[in-house]
Amino acid sequence: MSQIKLPGLIDVHTHLRVPGGEHKEDFATGTAAALAGGLTMILGMPNTSPPLTTRQRLADTRANAQQNAYCDVGLFAGASREFLVDLPNAAQEAVALKIYLNDTFGTLRVDTLPTLLACFETWPREKLIAMHAEGQSVAVGIGLATSYQRPVHFCHISRQEEIELIAQAKMRGLPVTCEVTPHHLFMTEADFKRLGPLADMRPKLATQADVDALWAHLDSTIDCIATDHAPHTLAEKQSENYPPGIAGLETSLPLMLTAIQENRISMPRVIELMHTNPRRIFKLPLQTDTYIEIDPTAEQTIRNEAMHSKCGWTPFAGQTLTGRVERVLLRGQTAFEAGQVVAIPGSGVVL
Ligand code: NCD
Ligand code: ZN
Repeated sequence: MSQIKLPGLIDVHTHLRVPGGEHKEDFATGTAAALAGGLTMILGMPNTSPPLTTRQRLADTRANAQQNAYCDVGLFAGASREFLVDLPNAAQEAVALKIYLNDTFGTLRVDTLPTLLACFETWPREKLIAMHAEGQSVAVGIGLATSYQRPVHFCHISRQEEIELIAQAKMRGLPVTCEVTPHHLFMTEADFKRLGPLADMRPKLATQADVDALWAHLDSTIDCIATDHAPHTLAEKQSENYPPGIAGLETSLPLMLTAIQENRISMPRVIELMHTNPRRIFKLPLQTDTYIEIDPTAEQTIRNEAMHSKCGWTPFAGQTLTGRVERVLLRGQTAFEAGQVVAIPGSGVVL
């Protein structure tokens, strides 16, 4: 057994489902899953019901997090036409703004140009704007980053043409950054054929050529690995109008550690993608005395029953991965050890 120490990892794309989706996940179960996956800080997405579009809703959700979270949590405000006027107030309770340009789970969408422009004009410049942008919407985001001369972060980029456009924008010095998810690195549309709804998410799984392009850009264009942890119950996934999304908090680091063992990526680069860059891009505070101990060579077979996430299933179940989280220390206190959360509820700080 060889143990190594890494900084606490950061996930900039987690769905925690409070309010309105607590049967899928809540702050206790979501942050327990985060610790189990070696993550000590996560940023929660605003596509809840109702969505986190107002200062009041963000404040209420932060209060809930403060009572229940086991690791540190920040929240995104969601852009909507309806609550545009409240956006500068909402900014006081949020780490960043999320703009949904394409269809996905939930009702949040920005589908008119005036709303989109108003977001860029009213959201404080010192806070980041993140976008769900697929296909040509990526070009819209790059255009706005250029026009307003302010950073735009692209969520879960998954296609060759998208990553190549972002690479070109970066080469020209434009202020754009992006994340990719482990599921878009480790699965293709063939897995959707095999698993059906259990491998359906937005963006959908792509071709092998798309996956190869993401790997080719992992050492350069890609800034962050983000889980896009999007829990839904098995019953919901087995229903006729099943929602898109899969859990990711507990498998993301083991998948990346497995890639290290296979010499597909280096450990220093994984730390950049899962700690250094997320922190810099989202201007997140340093967590003192916070680190994780991992065994990079221990094998583990992923099991639904061992998950801390309330949803209790993952498309990676049955796969044997190399690398395991042994212990997590949050501000000097052991928060997770031997597969169990030992922190007390509310020991996470709300950003
Ligand atoms: C997410 C969800 O369930 O909230 N689903 C998904 O397929 N990724 C929404 C999103 O991030 O697009
Ligand atoms: Zn998401």
